[in-house]
Amino acid sequence: MSEITITDSMLGDVGGKVAIVTGGASGIGEAIVTALADRGARVVIGDVNTAAGQALEASLVASKREARFFEVDVTDWPSIRAFFSSAADAFGGRIDLVFANAGIGERNTVWTDLLDEGGELAAPDFSVIDVSLRGAVYTSKLALHYFRKAPSTDAFDRGLVITGSTSSYNERPNLPLYSAAKHGVIGLMRALRHVVAADPVEKIHVGAIAPGGTETALFPSRAADAFRAQGIPVNTASSVATAAIYLATNATTNGHALTILGDRFTEVEEAITRTQEQWYGQYNTDMARRAASVRLDMLSVIRE
Ligand SMILES: NC(=O)c1ccc[n+]([C@@H]2O[C@H](COP(=O)([O-])OP(=O)(O)OC[C@H]3O[C@@H](n4cnc5c(N)ncnc54)[C@H](O)[C@@H]3O)[C@@H](O)[C@H]2O)c1
Repeated sequence: MSEITITDSMLGDVGGKVAIVTGGASGIGEAIVTALADRGARVVIGDVNTAAGQALEASLVASKREARFFEVDVTDWPSIRAFFSSAADAFGGRIDLVFANAGIGERNTVWTDLLDEGGELAAPDFSVIDVSLRGAVYTSKLALHYFRKAPSTDAFDRGLVITGSTSSYNERPNLPLYSAAKHGVIGLMRALRHVVAADPVEKIHVGAIAPGGTETALFPSRAADAFRAQGIPVNTASSVATAAIYLATNATTNGHALTILGDRFTEVEEAITRTQEQWYGQYNTDMARRAASVRLDMLSVIRE
């Protein structure tokens, strides 16, 4: 585990680069959009909230920033596929940075017994998994596709950053499906860090941010106040955005995840990997690493 300080000079030059931010109309996504646009990037905002997205686009354009808004539902493949196509067309075909950030809160109906219209036990509400995990998978799939489709004409490495949470690493009895989704995106990122490192075409890196409580529409002031009352610091959305842009613009961070807690940044993935023998056992670790190198995906191709 290592705490890092991120200074302005550690953020890569995004001038003229094309960045996509899902869930970009509000909160952490809006902070990423604004910080990128202020630094000269051409930013594509994607969100289901059309009014907020259009208002953000209008205010950025009015202050001579380059931004476009397109409505997207990240849970819907045709919608997000069309969104990436519009985003690529908006700024000449290339996409350099992608932030898979859209998310919603826990719906809290998993362990509460609710009845459906027929009076039967209702199914758990999967919408948080759909937005935060399915949406991250769809966004990552399209990001890698577009990174490879229009190869970089300069030395700029393409960056994908997925939004996790401190719930990606901790037990959350009151957030079962949110927590499942956020653990899931770290699993996704851990697989993709190997996929992109082996990419024969493009230099791509992936990472994740794992913020603690950050005052936004999802975590409003009454939640922030409850945290502060317990001595838990709350992030500003702009410091979370700094962490995201740092990861997206530094190729050496492939596979890293930054926890942001009280505006302090800690990289956690390197320590988890380095200490695996201690918490998983030597035998289990050796076998797991050996298993990771067996191309089961190739075997299934041969079986077909
Ligand atoms: N606020 C926190 O304390 C906190 C902590 C850890 C992680 N996060 C994560 O940060 C991300 C951003 O959350 P936030 O706090 O800024 O919340 P927010 O509500 O301010 O912003 C989330 C945005 O995502 C959009 N969105 C929701 N469903 C969508 C969909 N299907 N398709 C496209 N856009 C959709 C919303 O309209 C909204 O604009 C989420 O992934 C969230 O889980 C937040």
